[in-house]
Amino acid sequence: MVAEDRQPVPDEPDVDLTRPNAARMYDYYLGGDAHFAADREAADRALARFPHAAGSARANRAFLDRAVRACLQKGIRQFLDLGSGVPTVGNVHEIAHHHDPEARVAYVDNEPVAVAHGDRLMAENPLVTVTLADLRNPREVLAAPGVAGLLDFRQPVAVLMVAVLHFVSDEADPTGIVATYREALPAGSALVLSHISDDQPTEELAAPHRAVAEVYRTSSTPAHLRDYPAIAALFTGFEVLAPGVVDARHWRPDEPRALEQDPCGFYAGVGWLPRPSA
Ligand SMILES: C[S@@+](CC[C@H](N)C(=O)[O-])C[C@H]1O[C@@H](n2cnc3c(N)ncnc32)[C@H](O)[C@@H]1O
Repeated sequence: MVAEDRQPVPDEPDVDLTRPNAARMYDYYLGGDAHFAADREAADRALARFPHAAGSARANRAFLDRAVRACLQKGIRQFLDLGSGVPTVGNVHEIAHHHDPEARVAYVDNEPVAVAHGDRLMAENPLVTVTLADLRNPREVLAAPGVAGLLDFRQPVAVLMVAVLHFVSDEADPTGIVATYREALPAGSALVLSHISDDQPTEELAAPHRAVAEVYRTSSTPAHLRDYPAIAALFTGFEVLAPGVVDARHWRPDEPRALEQDPCGFYAGVGWLPRPSA
């Protein structure tokens, strides 16, 4: 699975491409072209320890798709996608615009290559923005022109933190970060979240996630595994929609037989801020 580096693009940001990075490794798992030799080398080491990594990434993306559709069904038309990654198939704005061409999507990522790819793709779309920012600074993110200038926080917003909080250390206080975003949201808003975990039903299912986390230690984006209670606690202040916080593969699957498949390793859920009853 070794691809040639694609041609550099004129507005490519100046980043250290000699160190692997989660955004570009994830793009490699998903078959994109926004990765470089160091990313592929690290991703191949991860795949050697967890051959299902690519399937797991796809299961996470499929959860994202179903969760965004669930938000649309709840009447939400605005999305703040934090840690959005390199644009790939089934981006949030594509899912949302399929249901409502007027939906607004603000993408945020702190990886310059991912943001450059997003910028090029979305440049012509006034309902979509891409912002280079660190989600660990919620006030800066919420005030950024691409976020504050696009989203109306008097109307419901779905905040997406999909496969990203495991890149946030305990010291950075992920629970406090989520709470700050929650406080900015009106009733009728939602939190869509997934998080990798080694808290799995068997040691055989758990061990590969620890081995992969070891690989990420060498990257610019070390991973922090959390257990199920710590991940469920990230939904504090939200009403968790059925079926609760479960393996991403098992969250409202389109195909019922997915419930019989092994977990993909991401715990996932959708939290909701109920509207006050009349
Ligand atoms: C595994 S990818 C997930 C992409 C997408 N959310 C998905 O689930 O398909 C994680 C993304 O989070 C981004 N990321 C990691 N830490 C971040 C931070 N502190 N602020 C913003 N983005 C971050 C990475 O650059 C990467 O693009």
